[in-house]
Amino acid sequence: MNVPASERRLYIKTYGCQMNVYDSERLADTLRPLGYRLAEDPAGADLVVLNTCHIREKAAEKVYSELGQLARLKAQKAAAGEAMLVAVAGCVAQAEGAEIVARQPAVDLVVGPQAYHRLPELIARTHRAAGERLAADFAPEEKFDSLPERTSSAVTAFLTVQEGCDKFCSFCVVPYTRGSEFSRAPAAIEAEARALVARGAREITLLGQNVNAYAGEGGLAGLIRRLAKIPGLARLRYTTSHPRDMTDELIGAHAEVEALMPYLHLPVQAGSDRVLKAMNRGHTAGDYLRLVEKIRRARPDIALSGDFIAGFPGEREADFEATLDLAREVAYASAFSFKYSRRPGTPAAQAPGQIPEALKAERLARLQAVLEESQAAFNAAQVGRVLPVLIDKPGRDAGQVAGRSPYLQAVHGQGPQSLIGQVVPVRIASAGRNSLAGALQLAPA
Ligand code: 5AD
Ligand code: SF4
Repeated sequence: MNVPASERRLYIKTYGCQMNVYDSERLADTLRPLGYRLAEDPAGADLVVLNTCHIREKAAEKVYSELGQLARLKAQKAAAGEAMLVAVAGCVAQAEGAEIVARQPAVDLVVGPQAYHRLPELIARTHRAAGERLAADFAPEEKFDSLPERTSSAVTAFLTVQEGCDKFCSFCVVPYTRGSEFSRAPAAIEAEARALVARGAREITLLGQNVNAYAGEGGLAGLIRRLAKIPGLARLRYTTSHPRDMTDELIGAHAEVEALMPYLHLPVQAGSDRVLKAMNRGHTAGDYLRLVEKIRRARPDIALSGDFIAGFPGEREADFEATLDLAREVAYASAFSFKYSRRPGTPAAQAPGQIPEALKAERLARLQAVLEESQAAFNAAQVGRVLPVLIDKPGRDAGQVAGRSPYLQAVHGQGPQSLIGQVVPVRIASAGRNSLAGALQLAPA
């Protein structure tokens, strides 16, 4: 390509989880030394990276449809004498690298989640020739050690502390796409956290596919206590947790560490022991409910969030009703729910008793009705309370600012933009399904 290095433009489209959002930021950091600056859209880019998600079928299909559009754009640009590279990163790249290149010849590069630090090299090679295309090997330590310093400057930031999963839930591709569990060293995490705070972060969310399986010294509870001491860091969160790894130390941290926010994403997936067993979850519905009780004893106001799958193979009406019962009993503050999606290579994809699409859709709708009701009730319960809100961006309307409550609810109200980055008390006046509105309690000037 003959574009001067100083004018290269990069467009990254991110699908899926927060881990991908974090990885995309880091990808942009990795490519900055090669002269890449962010572009507004693919048309204005010399390099387009799709950072993909493979967790459900729809997610992967969206990638192929986006690639079809990019192939047309690339052809138009080529006709105008402009080059554009197309790279596929993330879990689809890991899971079906060779197939992507076969299905969409416009793809120049495929790079799995453990090989991002090699992207500059791969791009440099591709600039020269049609060189190496696949870099989907596993070496997580190398990845973290090789990525450059963080450059983002947001009020809230993600920080990956753990990657991969050894749980092998029978429906899930993550153990195959992200590899086995790996934890970064506490000192490296603390250094990254301090750098983020120095750049303006007031809240950090620790990320991991199984973040509470964090195996660095002191475990996740130790890490949280360590990071909570960083001056200027107001809030800590972590996600996603597995019920089996919810230790007493971590529950204790929720009672004692002020910076640790009263919010916990604790997927259960189903409420029937038969289905939980077939899912290879390693816990029963009773185990989960007892755990929730223990957590609520430590931190009574904690907001619980979960993930659910409706229509897992072999799920009977009675099993599904057990899921509804569990959802009602826990009364989640928020939740994600999905129709079971058959992922090639996972044991459940082979299982007998696959549920027809229409029945899955019907169950999902019933489940979502229950989950929405408890979310609305949780939000409504905040009306009249004064909540500390970390203001993190301008609001939608003029003169508004927006932020998050301790329970991760979106909150907005009238206030000056200068409050961005501050924790401000807000008297909650009204609650919608997805957000709260209130009056900022500002000290008189
Ligand atoms: N089908 C439907 N949902 C799935 N999830 C993971 N794999 C599948 C699948 N095959 C959901 C789980 C998980 C969340 C990230 O995605 O609920 O917790
Ligand atoms: Fe997938 Fe289960 Fe691991 Fe979560 S714990 S990433 S659902 S295998």
